[in-house]
Amino acid sequence: SPSDPDLVARARAAKERLGDRVFVLGHHYQRDEVIEFADVTGDSFKLAREAAARPDAEYIVFCGVHFMAESADILTSDDQQVVLPDLAAGCSMADMATAEQVAECWDVLAEAGVSEQTVPVAYMNSSADIKSFTGRHGGTICTSSNAARALGWAFEQVDPDRGKVLFLPDQHLGRNTAVRDMGMSLEDCVVYNPHKPNGGLTPEELRDARMILWRGHCSVHGRFSVDSVRDVRERMPGVNVLVHPECKNEVVAAADFVGSTEYIINTLEAAPAGSKWAIGTELNLVRRLANRYAAEGKEIAFLDRTVCFCSTMNRIDLPHLVWALESLADGTTVNRIQVDRETEKFAKLALERMLALP
Ligand code: 13P
Ligand code: SF4
Repeated sequence: SPSDPDLVARARAAKERLGDRVFVLGHHYQRDEVIEFADVTGDSFKLAREAAARPDAEYIVFCGVHFMAESADILTSDDQQVVLPDLAAGCSMADMATAEQVAECWDVLAEAGVSEQTVPVAYMNSSADIKSFTGRHGGTICTSSNAARALGWAFEQVDPDRGKVLFLPDQHLGRNTAVRDMGMSLEDCVVYNPHKPNGGLTPEELRDARMILWRGHCSVHGRFSVDSVRDVRERMPGVNVLVHPECKNEVVAAADFVGSTEYIINTLEAAPAGSKWAIGTELNLVRRLANRYAAEGKEIAFLDRTVCFCSTMNRIDLPHLVWALESLADGTTVNRIQVDRETEKFAKLALERMLALP
């Protein structure tokens, strides 16, 4: 639906009043009405780099979810303020790994005698606490666009025969990357369930594993199924199925292409006129791409019509953005996301390891 013209005018005016003092970042899964006011759009990796590259902006308004704003705060200087227009914009996947649970997991690994051969790799989609844990234990952060490079780096840090990675918190990205990019088999992966004693794993299972996957998933991407792939192939003969690596392994195996949001965008940009695509990622992005490329004769469909928007990404809407920008222009910082210094120290180390990956 078209945006309220009054809110559009107010957002424009507040941005104008703030000028270069504010920089607005917009994740690809954000609503159209919000993306319109983003100074730069990107996936979580690009936005982390963009935040780090804006030392002159007094305010970074992050249109995305909580863990992204935390990462931006970690990567910017202490006097820069990062604002999340709605504090309820969390991420259900990030919430699936708490600091207490991960500390307990590390104890379980230590008891099984494997923690010294294990490097944690945490997906960007995790809290600052988890990133800090990862940095403290010699690990790195990754995103969906550099997960293979992060795993390659992690396995270089340990004994090639006995070394392991504890992958947090998305089991699907961890498994898909291990199997597709690292030459591992599904049997090399075990799943640590934080709700079971000892993660539901025996010490032998932990010793034999190469990838210890945290039992987390994305509530949006986890809903695409092999049935949705089969149905779309029937509905659109000749279709190319392209999915995000947060989808289940069997869905990725049934698809034709797999990659991060930036990869999806670049692939569709390069696709020839007349080609047909079914995309398994967040709906705001798929709709925008379908509209953008319809004129070029590229037919782009959403992989499964029963899957919804990411509800927390959608919390950021034009009214919240206007409120945040007008408050800043009036001299009041609202919804500042600030990671405490102790947590920040090791979280930053882990993020910098990621940014330094080849
Ligand atoms: P990327 O932006 O790294 O593709 O991650 C997708 C996602 O789920 C962000 O919340
Ligand atoms: Fe979290 Fe999934 Fe939403 Fe991304 S799309 S913010 S991983 S719930």
